[in-house]
Amino acid sequence: MPLVNTKKMFKAAYDGHFAVGAFNINNLELLQAIVDAAKEEQSPIILQASLSAIKYAKINYLKKLVDAAVEDSGLPIALHLDHGDSFESCKMAVDAGFTSVMIDASHHSFEENILISKKVADYAHQYNVTVEAELGRLAGVEDEVNVSAEDSSYTRPEEVEEFVKKTGVDSLAIAIGTSHGAFKFKGEPKLRFDILEECEKRIRNFPIVLHGASNIPQQFVEMLVENGGSMSDAKGIPDELLRKAVSLAVCKVNIDSDLRLVFTSAVRKHFKTNPSHFDPRQYLGAGREQLKQFVKEKLKNALGSSGHAKDCM
Ligand code: G3H
Ligand code: 13P
Ligand code: ZN
Repeated sequence: MPLVNTKKMFKAAYDGHFAVGAFNINNLELLQAIVDAAKEEQSPIILQASLSAIKYAKINYLKKLVDAAVEDSGLPIALHLDHGDSFESCKMAVDAGFTSVMIDASHHSFEENILISKKVADYAHQYNVTVEAELGRLAGVEDEVNVSAEDSSYTRPEEVEEFVKKTGVDSLAIAIGTSHGAFKFKGEPKLRFDILEECEKRIRNFPIVLHGASNIPQQFVEMLVENGGSMSDAKGIPDELLRKAVSLAVCKVNIDSDLRLVFTSAVRKHFKTNPSHFDPRQYLGAGREQLKQFVKEKLKNALGSSGHAKDCM
């Protein structure tokens, strides 16, 4: 089957009480780890590229790598632009053959966010490309996404209905206390499920997206540090909280930092235990294998998407 947009997978996720994993890709090994895991689990997946991933790898390389993954796996896979920052960046992704785009105009006023998101939806829908928008702002730092804690804000449930109706977008990312990166909480992890429930009540049957959902498993933080890395006070979203979010109608869960952490800690361990290795296939292969096992576990135990590929075809 060809690349798909997110329509069918979100309907299957909503009806089947699971979430589709949306994993960030930058290179061949990350992509293969994710797709091989999804193939073994028979999970639908979203492969997403940020603007900085596109700057790093070039859009046509990423598109063609993903085409190969679709052909190789036979899975329902959507190729999604993560955090598109303007109409132009979303148009670029649509024109390059992405099947889904996110317009992140959440830093603009409510009215401006509606105007920009609607413009993207009107353009993308002509090409059967689905659109995600965002209301509320997550804190956190990544290459091109940088929001301080003071500038972050929870989604206001009273705005979601009007936003969805006026923009015509296909899914909505909301802010309930998750954040980007590996340092999500100083104290106990806590999410505002009351906001999620209130949003879901107001836009029933509408796919909700959770960004900043990495778990930051402590065993990989330890592996990183034991093998020469440095990372202190890293903390992510416990799987129980993620499972609760999924049970409350979150249909798409974004994971990037976990992929970086798991892959890098395995590569570091490989270097430390095999100082004579200098063939990239040896250490990148170690990262790929470790990441595959991590993603399999995530699909099965946190997102509940195993076996659901057939429902999205
Ligand atoms: O939400 C942001 C993603 O994790 C992408 O991060 O811009 O560093 O590729 P990046
Ligand atoms: P993490 O940093 O928690 O992996 O979040 C990734 C994300 O939201 C990508 O859009
Ligand atoms: Zn994000």
